[in-house]
Amino acid sequence: MDFMPAALCGTLRPSPLAATMATCYQPTMQQKTRIAPSILSANFAALGEEIRAVSAAGADYIHIDVMDGHFVPNLTIGPAVVAALRAHSELPFDVHLMISPVDPYIPEFAAAGADIITVHAEAGAHLHRTIQLIKDQGVRTGLAINPGTSVSAVTPLLDDLDLVLVMSVNPGFGGQSFIAGQLQKIRELRALIDATGRSIDLQVDGGVNAENAAEIIAAGADVLVAGSATFKGGADQYAANIKALRTTKP
Ligand code: DX5
Ligand code: ZN
Repeated sequence: MDFMPAALCGTLRPSPLAATMATCYQPTMQQKTRIAPSILSANFAALGEEIRAVSAAGADYIHIDVMDGHFVPNLTIGPAVVAALRAHSELPFDVHLMISPVDPYIPEFAAAGADIITVHAEAGAHLHRTIQLIKDQGVRTGLAINPGTSVSAVTPLLDDLDLVLVMSVNPGFGGQSFIAGQLQKIRELRALIDATGRSIDLQVDGGVNAENAAEIIAAGADVLVAGSATFKGGADQYAANIKALRTTKP
């Protein structure tokens, strides 16, 4: 059977014979699985050491959860801590901002050493402006959606994004259980990203572990955030924990 790139489907007028032989396909832009340990589950009294340990253990990104006690019911860290950690790893700092308002803090997090800044679709009324502000800092743009938010919140901004984050728990705390209903959203976003032809990271955050990682990857994710599943068992276990999450690419 012949295959026709999806971009051409519906634009050609094949002969009746060709029409029976040709099938449209959409090449996937899904990339090799990458693991982003969330330092929310690290030992906060030794964060620099913890970051060095997961970097040596094979992590791909360092996921830094920033919470404000307003957008989410927890408080974590600010730009000064991100700046202090910067010297401890050469991996990209993937900064997940669960704060509102968010715009006033974006330049500070970029200056502190963020490589990716992810904001929540639910965190402000002027999301397009927020994404442009991240781009203006010369860092990668990420957009997160909560479990109760539809993919339609992402669609109008997809062309400006480098990363889409599907929250698979309600944000605020580590150690919660994966909400299986989010798998369908991951599939829908995989298809939307594939249709762009760009390799936008599709990241999943919350309740990811070695037992459900394969299913999440099969749904289309290519970056797995994992806090408790990475940091369990102490530093001697980090390499094995990360390896267990990095199941074979579908
Ligand atoms: C939750 C955070 C997550 C969290 C993940 O609001 O965004 O990054 O730390 O923790 P686990 O992997 O333990 O669910
Ligand atoms: Zn996070």
